[in-house]
Amino acid sequence: MDLTVTIAGVKFPSCLMNASGALCVTAEELTGLGRSRSGAIVTKSMTVEPREGNPEPRYHPFAGGSINSMGLPNLGYRAYAELIPALKQFGKPLIASVAGLCEDDFPAIAKVINGAAPDLIEVNLSCPNIPGKPQIGYDAEASERLIKRVRPLITVPMGVKLPPYFDPAHHELMGSVIARCGVDFLNLINSVGNGLFVNPDNETVVIKPKGGFGGLGGTIIKPVALANVRAFYKYFKGRMPIIGTGGVVQGVDAFEHLLCGASAVQVGTALVEEGVQVFARLEKELAACLEQRGYKSAEDCRGKLKEL
Ligand code: DHB
Repeated sequence: MDLTVTIAGVKFPSCLMNASGALCVTAEELTGLGRSRSGAIVTKSMTVEPREGNPEPRYHPFAGGSINSMGLPNLGYRAYAELIPALKQFGKPLIASVAGLCEDDFPAIAKVINGAAPDLIEVNLSCPNIPGKPQIGYDAEASERLIKRVRPLITVPMGVKLPPYFDPAHHELMGSVIARCGVDFLNLINSVGNGLFVNPDNETVVIKPKGGFGGLGGTIIKPVALANVRAFYKYFKGRMPIIGTGGVVQGVDAFEHLLCGASAVQVGTALVEEGVQVFARLEKELAACLEQRGYKSAEDCRGKLKEL
């Protein structure tokens, strides 16, 4: 089965890859993704300075998903800029994820990272876990200002990773922002921010930062992810490449993302729980899923969801 895809002119050997945050912080982890069957290497979202992140415990898996408040632990953009040339040797696209603690950080990082020539850059407008900092992606004006500042600094395909939206008015509003800003692809969705998981046995929260509030991932967020993929796919009439992220645990989950309009999918919680072997399993499952239904390739089924 042909699982290769092309996004913004860049060819991916597989449509299954890691989500930023999952096993992609250190040089060892990034090399591990390079050696794995992941269709790309996506870096952890990088900030200007290296960060230890929030105090532990800061990630907790549960039946049906996970909650995290990592707090952007990362090596700092200078270290990733140095790692990129070696990581490009693995023969698959390298996606650099750029974050920031304030608006000025993004252009500073974007300029240098673009110089290191990753294959694509993903601008993360949706980190929900920095105490006292609301996500930029929930402020349409701030998002537009920021994307318009970084866009001219980036010469490789530039995407935006957005948080989930829960109202069609917000899909329209952000769709119009994206349409005005020369964005080459979207990544939908980041974790569902500021959930709360409770352990009733010992009557506690399960992660330490922010009183236990954290971003949700895994199976429980799949319908929210699919809805956002579908809403933006329709807004852009199928002409905006979308990476679907959220709830990909089985091959059929990836298939559902493709049907909704994703060109590729990213794997977060399932990768953390299973390790990089997850990609071989998902590949087999997705291939079987496509074959059963008579599709010739992953690209073949994109957007083909039927409405009633
Ligand atoms: C973190 C979590 C996110 O969902 C994100 O987009 C960026 C960073 C984190 O807590 O490290």
